Amino acid sequence: MSTLRVARHALLRHKLTRLRMRETDSATFRRLLAEIGAVLTAEALRDLPEAPRLIDTPMARMQAPALAGPEPCLVAILRAGLGLLEGARWVLPDAPIGHLGLVRDEVTLQPSEYVVRLPPDLAARGALLLDPMLATGGSAAAAITRLKQRGATQIRFACVLAAPEGAAFLAKTHPDVPILTAALDERLDERGFILPGLGDAGDRCFGT
Ligand code: PRP
Repeated sequence: MSTLRVARHALLRHKLTRLRMRETDSATFRRLLAEIGAVLTAEALRDLPEAPRLIDTPMARMQAPALAGPEPCLVAILRAGLGLLEGARWVLPDAPIGHLGLVRDEVTLQPSEYVVRLPPDLAARGALLLDPMLATGGSAAAAITRLKQRGATQIRFACVLAAPEGAAFLAKTHPDVPILTAALDERLDERGFILPGLGDAGDRCFGT
């Protein structure tokens, strides 16, 4: 699992603990997910290539660091990725947004794709893929396969919770894609839910 990195930040852990709690209501859950999305986005993109830019401050001219290329596309895996996307947009308000609709069959745990909306310039921008949950890894792997098919070569994946099973599967399926997570949990249960986890992120986010 060489591509997995657990983000280390006290605020992130604090917000995640509140997110996990059974009594956290849907509105609070969405707000926390957005806040976590902002922190994870900043952390996932901390090593984007930079280039010096000549600018004028009110006081003097200077060479200042700036991003060398265009901002990466922010791609949410529906539905729960929308919760992270809200916070990601606070950090990169000008970045284009992509949507990948994937739903996991409750019995086979296999994902099926129901919507694909992506900008045309993924090859030039790369993408930050967002989904709170990395369980079996099937959804994230399918999403990354779709992004690559649309030309993306620089892809990063950020999630809130990863199961060891999903992290291993994703690292094997797409070893070139770095995975950032706020926490690595213990395991999956027999229904493919992360333990101790936080429940069904999509349902908690949207009150379904
Ligand atoms: C959940 C979750 C991930 C996926 C993770 O979504 O939000 O997208 O399952 O599982 P995996 O790693 O085993 O593929 P779900 O399919 O329940 O759809 P939803 O977000 O619309 O509820």
